[in-house]
Amino acid sequence: SVVYLNGQFMQAAEAKISPMDRGFLFGDGIYEVIPSYGGRCVGFAAHIQRLQTGLAALDIQCAMTVQDWQQLVQQLIQSNGEGNLGIYLHVSRGTDTKRAHAYPKAIAATIFAYAFEISAEPLADTETAPCYKVITAEDLRWQRCHIKSTALLGNVMHHQQAAALGLNECILFDEHGFLTEGSSTNVFIVKDTVVITPPLSHKILPGITRQLLLSILRQHSKLTVEERPVSKHELLIADEVWLTSSSKEVAAVVEVDGLRIGNQRPGPVWQLAQSLFSQYKYEY
Ligand code: PDD
Repeated sequence: SVVYLNGQFMQAAEAKISPMDRGFLFGDGIYEVIPSYGGRCVGFAAHIQRLQTGLAALDIQCAMTVQDWQQLVQQLIQSNGEGNLGIYLHVSRGTDTKRAHAYPKAIAATIFAYAFEISAEPLADTETAPCYKVITAEDLRWQRCHIKSTALLGNVMHHQQAAALGLNECILFDEHGFLTEGSSTNVFIVKDTVVITPPLSHKILPGITRQLLLSILRQHSKLTVEERPVSKHELLIADEVWLTSSSKEVAAVVEVDGLRIGNQRPGPVWQLAQSLFSQYKYEY
């Protein structure tokens, strides 16, 4: 595949990064994953804005403008066949000559991007939609989950808790027993047709799919939508549970900790939500 590294496009095998890169040694960087179907990105502007917010939070200097990112991503898509692609963008603080925890002054950021194949666009079809089975666990990641850091070990370890049991995701709860998010997804519940998701805070990633879905449901449906704390009990007795992420869009959960949700099939509110998402996702 063709990748981008520090201003140039090249074959993946030719892309070389120093072992002294702080992305490698410290996980000192920010990343994004943007879905693209047939050359069209979903939520491009929102993804780039989140990337820039993350870089500012870490004080990483990166001269790329929105137009620069747009050009880079378009070229990457064209070089990789315009199919169903996840566009991975990564900016690390750069390569240092000596080991120091403090941010070194005046080093150039490392900018890397590649495209990987993803599944076809999700459909609002209750017969063919994937059904996710999940576990719950205490959220043992760090306290800055709103930053989309490349240091993903906390997320990886929680995801592995589920994978080790042959399950799809691990839904996390904070020390007060409130829902945060999944290891790589945001979480929604539905009770009596009210759609509920935890509010933004430093405990969760401000997911772009979450943001798009909230806007779409508020503008294009009559459903009541609430951003408020969610307890474990509410999750377990929900009519429907959904996971959202760039590649999954809205995904139905049918089992939590071995207990079934609803009638163990993607529900009617899910079908409405995914169908509205499919219809309007390119307009944001
Ligand atoms: N994961 N929460 C976490 C912890 C995530 O890592 C992700 C995305 C999300 C959903 O965000 P979005 O809707 O912007 O994709 C929520 C990406 C896809 C990943 O790490 O590959």
